[in-house]
Order: sequence, then C-alpha cells, then structure tokens
Amino acid sequence: MYFGRQLSEINPDLTAEIVAKVDEIIGVHKSKPGSLIPVLEEVQGITGYLPVELQDYISRGLNVPASTVYGVVTFYSFFSMVPKGRHTIKVCMGTACYVRGVSEVLNRIQSAFKLEVGKVSEGKRFSLELVRCLGACGLAPVMVVGGDTHGAVTPDRVVDILDRYK
Ligand code: FES
Repeated sequence: MYFGRQLSEINPDLTAEIVAKVDEIIGVHKSKPGSLIPVLEEVQGITGYLPVELQDYISRGLNVPASTVYGVVTFYSFFSMVPKGRHTIKVCMGTACYVRGVSEVLNRIQSAFKLEVGKVSEGKRFSLELVRCLGACGLAPVMVVGGDTHGAVTPDRVVDILDRYK
C-alpha cells in the first residue's frame, strides 16, 4: 500500500504480482546489513526501473529512510528512475560529437521514433539518453545502442541503424 492505495493504482507497472516479488526480495535481505543496494538491484531486475513510489515502498520494507534510498538510486548510474526500453540509445553530446553534428542526429531519432530524452518509445522499444564523451571521438558523432557502438552516424543513416533493433 502507498498512502492507503495499492501501488498499481498509482503506477500500473507495479502489479500485485510484481509487488509480491518485491516483498519476497525484501524478506530475503531484510535482516542483513548493507541490504539496500542488493535489494535495489534485484527489484530493478524485475521492474526495469525504480520509480519514487517503489523506492518509498522499499524504504518502509527495509526500514531505511526514503532519502537514503533516493540518494543511492540517484548516485549510481546503474539505477534508473524512468522505464527503460528494450534497447537503450545513448547519444554522445561531447564536444567532438557536437561539432560534427550530433544535434541533427538526435533530432532525427526523436522525430522518427517519437522519442524524448529520458523517456521510452511506444511499445517500450527504445529509451533515449544523452551522455558525455564516450571516449571514441575519432568516430564522432557516436551513438551506443545496447552494447553496440555506432560511429560517423548521420541523420540519414541513423534511422536505418535503429531499424535493426526490434
Ligand atoms: S565527444 Fe563523443 S565520443 Fe568523445
């Protein structure tokens, strides 16, 4: 329950089945010291992200202040407060990529897939993030999709590249 309401009423992703699994994870780790990070990792493995209402739920379950949970989630880039798509697109906004036209690439991604930064496209196919230099400036502009690095990306090529990811 969250402020007297079922979590699923607040966030449809948090079904009774998901919450039961979260309870199970909390139950396993509750009495162990340093349990917060393992719990957050396991829960994110199920839900894909850690929205604030779920953080509050975990905070009460583990008896850890909500501010501590929030602090950990925002500190480690591994954790996400927004849903992730099946494929995460990371677009480099470092200087070399910027100079070589990554803004136009980004615009094309956003318009072709109706995708906003920090959001998920329809059907949870893609999520979009902006990142700093990926250390591959010689390939600028650079985009990473899942574990694949794509260099010299142009607005014309980017849609074809992304169409390979279903
Ligand atoms: S600035 Fe984009 S890879 Fe370095």
